[in-house]
Amino acid sequence: MSTDTIQRPIGEIARTMVSGGRGILAADESVSTMNSRLEGAGVPPTVEQRRAYRAMLVTTPGLSAWISGIILSEDIFTASTGDGKPFPVACVEAGMLAGIKVDTGAKALAGAPDETVTEGLDGLRERLESYAAAGASFTKWRAVIKIGDGLPTPRAIAANAQALARYAALVQEAGLVPIVEPEVLMTGEHSLDRCAAVTETTLRSIFDELTAQGVALEGMVLKPNMVVPGDRCATSSSPAEVASATIRTLRRTVPVAVPGIAFLSGGQGVEMATTHLAEMNGLGPHPWELSFSFGRALVDLALKAWRGEPGLAGDGQQALAERARANAQARAA
Ligand code: G3H
Repeated sequence: MSTDTIQRPIGEIARTMVSGGRGILAADESVSTMNSRLEGAGVPPTVEQRRAYRAMLVTTPGLSAWISGIILSEDIFTASTGDGKPFPVACVEAGMLAGIKVDTGAKALAGAPDETVTEGLDGLRERLESYAAAGASFTKWRAVIKIGDGLPTPRAIAANAQALARYAALVQEAGLVPIVEPEVLMTGEHSLDRCAAVTETTLRSIFDELTAQGVALEGMVLKPNMVVPGDRCATSSSPAEVASATIRTLRRTVPVAVPGIAFLSGGQGVEMATTHLAEMNGLGPHPWELSFSFGRALVDLALKAWRGEPGLAGDGQQALAERARANAQARAA
């Protein structure tokens, strides 16, 4: 591992993550989420299949043309690809930065039924040291905000914003770039306008907290949801409506010092996520890079094509490369 890769100043790492028309692959599903996705594809949910699946993704030939970095879960970050190479080393040798999800999950928030706060701050400083030594350049922390009757509460937004900001400050102290991921879930009957309002309130609170905690905005990447109607909303919205609502919300809340915004896909269809990304880039120029850090919208087809069969790894890789290329092209729209 070259020390240059590990020790570059965070502003430069953040720019590398979001520039060059490339995006970030989110391959950091927790063990339980990964198990249910494997089962959904008819693959036995074993340690070996979780490892083999990620090895298939990371070793996709030519992936670095469209992908700047890969977010790994802790169990995979500390494992090795088939040829005995640690995953972070395999990423860097393939021309991509290695990242790790460092939160320990969304847990029930006291006094706020149905809402969560993401945890993982205890011992984080020490963990970050070991991740940096093993080759991580960046990290991720995901906060979950639910829309519903009387939700989100100000308490849930405040608790998550503060945790995200404390996480980001610790990560920068360790010389790494924090991906700050507040996900307003698309689960529900809410309208596009309601998603816009909640996303705006959430982002406002997060940037207030990031400032309060002394986080350098130049050395972070924001990973928000797109502004979309709930998955059970009676009214659908066109890609143009989604794009303009999302850009308006971001322009109101995200300082221009932030080098890039890399969207999550959040359960949108594979093609729809790409269409929305292209629409938004088409409304540019924007003050920040507008990129992608998709999980499902990049890997769903690859998982289906691979099906846990070593002989189908090439098919899985081709499916991933095709989605990565399409999303990189959407950035150039
Ligand atoms: O935590 C969620 C991932 O970072 C993004 O996944 O694109 O499937 O929503 P997604």
